[in-house]
Amino acid sequence: MAVTIKSEKEIERMREAGRLLAIVHEELGKAIRPGMTTKDIDRLGEEIIRSFGCVPNFLHYNGYPASICVSVNDEVVHGIPSKKRYLEEGDIVSLDAGLIYKGYHSDAARTHAVGQISQEAQKLIDVTRQSFFEGIRFAKAGNHLHDISNAIASYVEQFGYGIVEDLVGHGIGTHLHEEPEIPNFHQKSKGIRLQPGMTLAVEPMINMGTKDVEWLDDDWTVVTADGALSAHYENTILITEGEPEILTLPR
Ligand code: MF3
Ligand code: CO
Repeated sequence: MAVTIKSEKEIERMREAGRLLAIVHEELGKAIRPGMTTKDIDRLGEEIIRSFGCVPNFLHYNGYPASICVSVNDEVVHGIPSKKRYLEEGDIVSLDAGLIYKGYHSDAARTHAVGQISQEAQKLIDVTRQSFFEGIRFAKAGNHLHDISNAIASYVEQFGYGIVEDLVGHGIGTHLHEEPEIPNFHQKSKGIRLQPGMTLAVEPMINMGTKDVEWLDDDWTVVTADGALSAHYENTILITEGEPEILTLPR
């Protein structure tokens, strides 16, 4: 499937899908506390998504068994919620969520502190979030896709963190994953030329140690190979002639 350019009507639906997902993340962020289970987060997230009359797009996607990906500490992404996994003071937890509004998908992720966390962990979270914003400074018509990738990589490298290469961002629209793939590490090629009406999920996944990751036996949970912490930050954005519109932040 080729890269799609959304019409104004489609963009309106993407905006609404994004606006509602921003509310889901705000509510989940407020709910995070030590003692809750990762399944509690999934239940709450699904409930909020359905209260909007929307559908959680991750549920049953390639067999994924939940609505929210909940990844704790060394888990990078795609952690499966469990009623046996309790959040503890000092953990960091990455929440990845998405929904479908009138056929259009949104996708966003945040990493939260559970209670008080170390300065090192907070810095990882902050740098990961900032790397998204450094990347999307280049997300405008006329630039190339890999300008975003290279900007993310150049920013993150200064801190000596590992940039995950085995998972990437993606186009998004009537499908959760559309072309193009959006790497977060340095690219030699320029990538496609960005055009107004493209909608992209930009999602740096950053490790405190090595960039290398492994898959657990549940076939989903991605963990750091060295057991060090990992953070994730993602928004769905719209390419315009000027500044990109970030669809999944609170309006
Ligand atoms: N945000 C994730 C991504 O872009 C989607 C989770 S995959 C799922 O890859 F299977 F859990 F839905
Ligand atoms: Co995504």
